[in-house]
Amino acid sequence: MLCATGDDEKSLFEKSQEIRAREVGDKVYFRGLIEFSNVCSKDCFYCGIRKSNRNAIRYTLPDVEILDACRFAYENRMGSVVLQSGEISNTAFVNRVDRLIRAIKQLSNNGLGITLSCGEQSAGTYRRWFESGAHRYLLRIETSNESLYKKLHPCDDLHSYSHRIEALNILKKTGYQLGTGVMIGLPFQTVEDLAGDILFFKNLDIDMCGMGPYVEHGDTPLAQYGNLLKTKEKRLALALKMIAVLRIVMPDINIAASTALHSIDPFGREKALTAGANVIMPNLTPSDQKKKYCLYEGKPHLDDDIQAVINEMMKKIESLGFEIGYNQWGDSKHAKKRAAHH
Ligand code: 5AD
Repeated sequence: MLCATGDDEKSLFEKSQEIRAREVGDKVYFRGLIEFSNVCSKDCFYCGIRKSNRNAIRYTLPDVEILDACRFAYENRMGSVVLQSGEISNTAFVNRVDRLIRAIKQLSNNGLGITLSCGEQSAGTYRRWFESGAHRYLLRIETSNESLYKKLHPCDDLHSYSHRIEALNILKKTGYQLGTGVMIGLPFQTVEDLAGDILFFKNLDIDMCGMGPYVEHGDTPLAQYGNLLKTKEKRLALALKMIAVLRIVMPDINIAASTALHSIDPFGREKALTAGANVIMPNLTPSDQKKKYCLYEGKPHLDDDIQAVINEMMKKIESLGFEIGYNQWGDSKHAKKRAAHH
């Protein structure tokens, strides 16, 4: 299916739309994304905010700006926020995130759902943040093929594939709704690898998935393999097929229309919704800092007025025939079923 073209490709998208409508309906859930710090202790070869990138200007948003962005999400009826950052695990950082989680719950009368995306942390940290009110966690496996994973990361303890797997298992055991995902169109990645990724998701029994095209960043070691990359059009087409196939294989999970899709096609995310995704994460990071949270090239909307962007986005999504899940957490049906079984 991932290789389908022409009529086969069309049938694939028809099938995924049918399953999406039947299993999760035509609701789209919004999560306000706040990239609250690009300080990172890791050195992943693909990522623009890797520790060794001296050209990255580092920032950490002050509490008031994070909480203002959450208030904005709440007032715009988004229902949930995602707090994302580079990977830091010192005590000050852990305490700060914990405080922020409580403050967000308080400012929204428990209304806002909180998803975290702060990398690998200890079991104790994951538990503490969960007990303070975060209930979903995103930690991409990046690729489920261990030998490819090793090509994308330094060979040391901080970047070990088995630690990543262990972190995913701990998150699930702690009680989070678990999200993972991969990059699509990486150098050295084959379509078999991507098929393996889908089986990996199924096997891990995830609740949510975010995947997007790999997009090169000039200041990273992986940029030297630019000649191995598929065109952006092909990476987009492959990403859309991954979403469609995943919708068929795991009909009741939440699938995000990722930001990276938007950076290679102005309507990439809308196309992803049509292919089977049901979650969108508009970026609420204040624009000066948003520019610095630069994982890859071509990040969109860097100077736009956030309110105008959100209004436009909501209108556009409704005009495509979707209903917006205003003020709802929008947990995946899969997670609810999983909870009912335990
Ligand atoms: N291209 C696309 N996605 C990237 N990410 C990091 N660097 C890149 C890149 N160059 C993704 C990773 C990470 C998420 C936050 O951003 O998958 O998990």
